[in-house]
Amino acid sequence: MRDDSQHQKDLDLSVDSEVLGEALFGTAARIVRSHERREKWSALAALEAQTMKRLDEYLSASAQSGSAGAAARFRGQAMGVMFALLPWRAAMKALGDGTARYLAAFRRLETGAQSELDRSFFEYLVAHEVAIRDFAQAELSGASEGSLAPIHALLRASG
Ligand SMILES: [Fe+2]
Repeated sequence: MRDDSQHQKDLDLSVDSEVLGEALFGTAARIVRSHERREKWSALAALEAQTMKRLDEYLSASAQSGSAGAAARFRGQAMGVMFALLPWRAAMKALGDGTARYLAAFRRLETGAQSELDRSFFEYLVAHEVAIRDFAQAELSGASEGSLAPIHALLRASG
């Protein structure tokens, strides 16, 4: 049986992560000087914005709610400044590592799905986090050229 209090915590974490993520990637995109890196941070910000929109739609369609922590946007902006200033590899390592906690929550939501609506949205939610993790791993392994492919694929699929 689904643990309803855990389910609500996971929904809140989802909202928090999208607000934080969009602020983080958007801030990093504005600060960074390199055109190539700006394009990468901007694509990540667009994916988070798309995910926030889909999350809002899912929550209203299923008569649920979720709330971000009070300082999510501010934390995201502060982290965005830090990510833009870090050496690229360190930023990619932190980004990839950061997906683990979210993936655990999103997979829990997917496992507890109770309707087709749940299933299709949580599947997307997991896929978007996997795409961010795969992007960071591609950057770390030197496959920088095609690293945005999983991000672009999701933006194309549901943009
Ligand atoms: Fe996200």
